[in-house]
Amino acid sequence: MIVAITGIILILFVIGHLLGNLQIFIGPDWINAYSRHLHDLGPLLWLIRLFLLATVIVHIYVTIQLAIENRRARPERYIDRQYVKATFASRHMVMSGLIVLAFIIYHLAHFTVRVTDRRFGLLKPDPLERYDVYSMMVYGFQNYYVSSFYVLGLFLLALHLSHGSSSFFQSLGLNDRKLTPRLAVGGRIFAWLLFVGYTSIPVAILLGLIKPAQQL
Ligand code: HEM
Repeated sequence: MIVAITGIILILFVIGHLLGNLQIFIGPDWINAYSRHLHDLGPLLWLIRLFLLATVIVHIYVTIQLAIENRRARPERYIDRQYVKATFASRHMVMSGLIVLAFIIYHLAHFTVRVTDRRFGLLKPDPLERYDVYSMMVYGFQNYYVSSFYVLGLFLLALHLSHGSSSFFQSLGLNDRKLTPRLAVGGRIFAWLLFVGYTSIPVAILLGLIKPAQQL
């Protein structure tokens, strides 16, 4: 239940973050204003950050405990395994989760602390004196290696959520012969829609559809 509840909180964040980021398609004014509003939250922003961090830590700690308990329950390996219901995604939740964690750490260094690309510090403020997050994202994703790593991280996030976003219903006791398979399909559709939404940003930048608002 703890994994399910922390998972729902993280899913809500991922949806909100995608909606915020998609504003890049509307223009620099929108995404720069959005970032400024977030930073203007001041101490509240820090409270939200700490809450999210605690949620991630609890989610990982409890899932790893569960995985260890699961393994201990059967110390001897099966000679032959044939999976009837377990999907690839459901069997690799720890692996996909840990790679997503590595992706998030890189992502924070990239766009929040901004230490991986020294050009981000050279960006001038936009006409309304706000940090130019728009151009930062464009310059960031113009690098093929960076964009490829994002697509990989997002792929694993989608794989993780294609199981996690519906299995939490079962963990919370909402299990029904008719409803559960439908939720599983809905969860998969939801996860891959998130993947398409997020990856549309680096892809649009690499295709030259979005250009920086200022030259460096
Ligand atoms: C193409 C994909 C993504 C883009 C373009 C993107 C963009 C950004 C940007 C621009 C920021 C800095 C915001 C600011 O300081 O104004 C940010 C922060 C952040 N992103 Fe993402 N993001 C993406 C995917 C993700 C994913 C998949 C996750 C989580 C699974 C995530 C988690 C975070 C977190 C936790 C922060 C820190 C928020 C804070 O400042 O406290 N991002 N992202």
